[in-house]
Amino acid sequence: MLGRLAVVNAGELVTLRGPQVPRTREAMREVGIVASGGFFVEDGVFTFVATSNEVEDRIEPGDTVVDAGGRVVMPGFVDAHTHLVFAGDRFRDFEWRALGKSYAEIAQEGGGIRSTMRATRLTGEDELLALARKRSRWMMRCGTTTAEVKSGYGLTKADEMKMLRVIRSLGEEAAINMVPTFLGLHALPPEFEGDRSGYVEMMLDEALPQVAAENLAHWADIFVEEGYFSPDDAERLAERAKNLGLGLRMHVDQMQDSGGAALAARLGAATADHLEFTSESGIAALAEAGVVPVLLPGSVLGLGKNRYPNARAMIEAGLPVVVATDFNPGSSPCPSLPTTLSLACTMMGMTPEEALTSATVNAAHSLGLGHEVGSIEEGKRADFVIHDAEDWRETLVYSGRETPSDAYIDGREITRRCSTR
Ligand code: NIG
Ligand code: FE
Repeated sequence: MLGRLAVVNAGELVTLRGPQVPRTREAMREVGIVASGGFFVEDGVFTFVATSNEVEDRIEPGDTVVDAGGRVVMPGFVDAHTHLVFAGDRFRDFEWRALGKSYAEIAQEGGGIRSTMRATRLTGEDELLALARKRSRWMMRCGTTTAEVKSGYGLTKADEMKMLRVIRSLGEEAAINMVPTFLGLHALPPEFEGDRSGYVEMMLDEALPQVAAENLAHWADIFVEEGYFSPDDAERLAERAKNLGLGLRMHVDQMQDSGGAALAARLGAATADHLEFTSESGIAALAEAGVVPVLLPGSVLGLGKNRYPNARAMIEAGLPVVVATDFNPGSSPCPSLPTTLSLACTMMGMTPEEALTSATVNAAHSLGLGHEVGSIEEGKRADFVIHDAEDWRETLVYSGRETPSDAYIDGREITRRCSTR
């Protein structure tokens, strides 16, 4: 059993406290700041959140006391969409894009998802874990303490399961909480060229049941886009995932409006991710069906495009918007949520408060973890970050600056463990 931890003297304690539901509209702007705040943590859980004075009055001999020194303390960020596990790199894609090649042209010429697939298939589990560990530290150093992580670069049953085992091992090391997602339907591998239906059948009949049996994923995901997978494939996945007890997340409307939002609504997906090209009627369908939009501005930037999702219209429609990094080697090589949230403000018209809410409380709810993480409140897991800042907005306004000095998961400091290789 861990002893009691007291954190005192947080210049701004940004709690994000509030009703235990996803935040919408005005509630997205209430971040619950306690000036000069503090809290107690017992057995990895916040037990008392108040002003620093109130905490100091209750300190007993034997408590461990951390003085935040007037700095900002916030919940750890929750990154609800990443492709953190991969081998190889996409530097050639990066250069080709600079020279004007499109996502489709790059894929045709040997780059894209299939090139990461080739590298990932050739890489053993231990090496893949070492690579993922290194990248999870990049995220942690940006203040992330929980991340959803997708498979999707293996594209055989064995290689998808290998990726999911790596995600599980990484979560067990407790550097960052990991939420695993099966993305077998990410791209068609070359050996199934011309037989998409055979590939989908293999992934749904052979891979997914075993993934579920071994509890290797909580969610299933699919890339619905021309040249990738179709609405029919998504329908088959939705049915199978439901039967196996997995929730559904979907990559939709990234390159064009293909009615992906309405499809996600019809299939009862938990989230519809990307949504760069989603129309007003698509947004209405999400709101009607209670599908959570997960917006990924880093991928718009990473692809050198300028069409961002319409976050303002989504907030006005009453949707509990989530913003995530989409961290991956190709379309979104940025692992930083603060940088991504800065983009959400500058390019998608979100206020800093809305952006912060989207990547903490709302992101946690979108993963089914709203009762566990995402805010500093009694009863929640003590995942928090001390930022080297006096005002929490510094973390996103001065984007690119590394502000976390100490990160804690379950009340235990993880920064030192993670800051060296
Ligand atoms: O979310 N859109 C599909 N999947 C990823 C891209 C992955 C990659 O390019 O490697 C995305 O942007
Ligand atoms: Fe993605």
